[in-house]
Amino acid sequence: MYIIGIETSCDETAASIIRSEQKNDRILVLSNIISSQIEIHQKYGGVVPEVAAREHVLNILPVIDEALLKAKIKPNKIDLIAITKGPGLITSLISGIETVRALAYVWEKPIIEINHIEGHIYSNFINPASKISYPALILTVSGGHTNLVLMNKDKKLKIIGETLDDAAGEAYDKGAKMMGLGYPGGPVIAKLAGEYALSGKKTDISLPRPMLTSPNFNFSFSGLKTALLYQLQKDKNWKKRLNEYCFAYQEAIIDILVAKTIKAARKFKVKTIMLSGGVSANQALRDKLNKSVKEGLEEVNFLAPEKIYTTDNAAMIAAAAAFKIKHRPTRTFKQLRVDPNWPLK
Ligand code: KG4
Ligand code: ZN
Repeated sequence: MYIIGIETSCDETAASIIRSEQKNDRILVLSNIISSQIEIHQKYGGVVPEVAAREHVLNILPVIDEALLKAKIKPNKIDLIAITKGPGLITSLISGIETVRALAYVWEKPIIEINHIEGHIYSNFINPASKISYPALILTVSGGHTNLVLMNKDKKLKIIGETLDDAAGEAYDKGAKMMGLGYPGGPVIAKLAGEYALSGKKTDISLPRPMLTSPNFNFSFSGLKTALLYQLQKDKNWKKRLNEYCFAYQEAIIDILVAKTIKAARKFKVKTIMLSGGVSANQALRDKLNKSVKEGLEEVNFLAPEKIYTTDNAAMIAAAAAFKIKHRPTRTFKQLRVDPNWPLK
């Protein structure tokens, strides 16, 4: 089956062609084109929805053309169009949805609606480094979402915990903004924190780990962000200790994510732990989770997507479609609908 995936839920315009082998669940990515708007939004310190939508409209057809060209595929060979229906910014989502409506009409192809978080989860099914056994636990950490989800052998998903306020990526982005580090915050905080870690020094900056020991699998990051703000306000020399603040802040975020994931893995006796979402590009998070799994859960497999599939991309949307097509009805161009708050279930 040849699937084209299209993703426009936030500030990346993306299209990808995959070939899925239904009998062995193998996914071959033939092209994965991403046009990022990061540089445009950087001057505003975050994503401006109207600007994002306008950029999607300009970029989407060239991105789709490039995806077809790179995959050496003509539209008549495509079996299915996969599109992100939600959740996301409504103005951004509509650009993708309306483009797909036109394509489905002209190409006479069926459409499958994909949830953006499903996409992140299925990024783990593209060239997995080891076997995925069930039940599996997935920690999704992105700019808009943070949740823990169980997947059973039929690939049914069940949310067991989520953030009550900010997402983990949002904590990075807002923390970076406070420290004047620009947007997006994750990569720059990760870099400076890494430099501090390499120095081998300890830190006496003490930040809280909200809900670390709460008797559930929910998260909360807004208190941590406020605690960072108070510490910066108290410390006249914080600019000279920037790397150390990034390190302490990142440690707090990672400690919470790892502790909750390990606790959930134990409780639900999972066989595989997977990471997904933009924050899963973070090497310190990967290393700490991997170490905790090795030390405490020897029988459990740990997987993370290839870094190119961690932040928003369309290969993950097409990959999710390869699995969802077995159960989810397809749509015609007339039936396609956007849903900016589409829940995972
Ligand atoms: O999945 P994604 O591309 O978009 C959403 O669905 O939200 O995630 C973007 C988020 C941003 O908050 C960004 O700061 C964060 O992922 N991020 C990182 C890293 N790379 C991106 N956070 C921590 N470390 C990174 N290396
Ligand atoms: Zn995302």
